[in-house]
Amino acid sequence: DTPTPDPKLTLGFQSLPVSMTDGCVVPAGYIAHVLAPWGTPFDDNAAPWDRGGNNSSNDLLHSAGMHHDGMHYFPLEGSSTEGLLAINYEYIDEKALHPNGPTTVDGKRPAEEVRKEINAHGAGVIHIRKADGKWNVVKNSRYNRRFTSATPMSLAGPLRGTASVITPYSPNGTLVRGTNNNCGNGFTPWGTYLTAEENWYACFVNKAPAADRPKSQVRMEIPSTSGRYKWETAAGDATEVQGEFARFDITPTGADATQDWRNEANAFGYLVEIDPYDPTSIATKRTALGRFSHEGANYANPVAGKPLAFYSGDDKRFEYIYRFVSEAVWDPSDANRTNRLAVGAKYMDKGTLYVARFGADGSGEWLPLNESAKGKDGRTLLEEFGSLEAILLNTRGAADFVGATPMDRPEWTMTHPVNGDVYVTLTNNTSRNAAAGTNAPNPRLNNANGHIVRWHDEPNSNKFRWDIFVFGSSAGAAADVNRSGLTAANQFASPDGLGIDPRGIMWILTDNGIDGGRNNDVAKTTNDQILAVIPGALADSTGVGPAINKDNQSDLRRFFVGPNEAEITGFAFTPDLKSVFVNIQHPVNWPAYDTEDATKANAGDKVRPRSSTVVIQKADGSAIGV
Ligand code: FEO
Ligand code: CA
Ligand code: CA
Ligand code: CA
Repeated sequence: DTPTPDPKLTLGFQSLPVSMTDGCVVPAGYIAHVLAPWGTPFDDNAAPWDRGGNNSSNDLLHSAGMHHDGMHYFPLEGSSTEGLLAINYEYIDEKALHPNGPTTVDGKRPAEEVRKEINAHGAGVIHIRKADGKWNVVKNSRYNRRFTSATPMSLAGPLRGTASVITPYSPNGTLVRGTNNNCGNGFTPWGTYLTAEENWYACFVNKAPAADRPKSQVRMEIPSTSGRYKWETAAGDATEVQGEFARFDITPTGADATQDWRNEANAFGYLVEIDPYDPTSIATKRTALGRFSHEGANYANPVAGKPLAFYSGDDKRFEYIYRFVSEAVWDPSDANRTNRLAVGAKYMDKGTLYVARFGADGSGEWLPLNESAKGKDGRTLLEEFGSLEAILLNTRGAADFVGATPMDRPEWTMTHPVNGDVYVTLTNNTSRNAAAGTNAPNPRLNNANGHIVRWHDEPNSNKFRWDIFVFGSSAGAAADVNRSGLTAANQFASPDGLGIDPRGIMWILTDNGIDGGRNNDVAKTTNDQILAVIPGALADSTGVGPAINKDNQSDLRRFFVGPNEAEITGFAFTPDLKSVFVNIQHPVNWPAYDTEDATKANAGDKVRPRSSTVVIQKADGSAIGV
């Protein structure tokens, strides 16, 4: 008696043509406006955004950060016209952030520049309100907050208070400064936001000889010569507070972990829980859910009296998909408590982490990553790693040890709210060559276009069923590439963001990384896009193969196309489904400075593009998509 979506549900817009114009394109009858681009002040502590790039590090601490990514709308009193937008600021465009790009003096980055970069990263909560059809930031609201790569945060779960996270800043291993490279997001049934630490490892450096670097660092590819932005080179500046820059160099130099920053990176790589409704709350890193390049998180539809499950992809070529199952069973009254982070502790600090192994026959199994789980050689994870602490620190290594299935870059996961199928975007993997080989859920060599896999967990079991929902492809590709028969109206590549609204419409957001070149046949013809589709249930399909419901094939429609070179990411509806928020990340020129109309190109000025949220609405104010 699995419930199914309303069979009368259909998409109420025509598929857009491809676009390579430098503005957002929306269907007829829709409008789109720019909301809170980077540098937008949250309060009077920040000066207005300066077109010359001269804002200070303190301005950025009180403004929207850069490279907007995952996002969620939290209503105030259930409202669809006033709420809190929790949002990730994934990374930075250094050229646009500073007047003339980043500088280095005698091999050192200037402290003020580094602080500005640190403050442009992280996440934020913004109070927003709709008036006369347009959303605006409620400046100076008590809810407005920034979380940066320097904000004090709490460590929770099995790693809290362990030797692995002791630093000079936190000799008892309970605190860390900052969250880094926050990519996709999640939210919880109890009203909190989850921000996912993805490419955090690149901000650190360990210069110790290879043989001396811990396996967990090697597996995460922490750099050995310098950090991504060379923040560590500002160490020793006269204004430096408690190793605020030195901590990015994790080379052991002192007598123990209280004397150097060897453990600093061990407090990164997690899902971080934020209570947007409580401006005094401390962001909390939930270490039980594993340490890797967390793309995002989503939960299985909760069932009273049963454990909760959270899914998270590890976005790197040949990495894995994880599931965390809580020890506590779901009590629906926990959805309405005001001590939300205590509820988070109840469900996210104790439980079991699993990793996915896909069978060739459409079956699959979640493999536990606990002390007693056995590896491929018959030894336990405890014998191999020594402790749960070490297993979690090197989650990827533990997943290798048990024989998980290497995937084509797992990005977002999303649960269908009606039938409970879980979808994952596998964005692409051009390194899947003949030597690496294919496997059942990743069947194409040189997978430049990506695909979407879905599974359905069997109740009270570690087993699941799975199939491939759709293959990305250009319309003109050979049949063994264009396995879902995509056409000019719905060709896409590099699926990344995912949303499924309460009606059962799925929204697919693409990231072709086209600022680095248009490296697949779809990106040669169009900017990144959003597509919509009404998926059938997994049980309706025939198993492995191009399983997108043939009856719905024509309903995979292009809904939105973004500006030149930008990724489309972040996806949040208001409860009335009349406003949808999406993010434009790493544009190269957009938006126009003289209008908030997101469809407009920026005439001439190619100096300071602004990543931004865009709000899409219907001009007549009715619900989106239908
Ligand atoms: Fe930051 Fe995997 O996208
Ligand atoms: Ca992503
Ligand atoms: Ca991506
Ligand atoms: Ca990105």
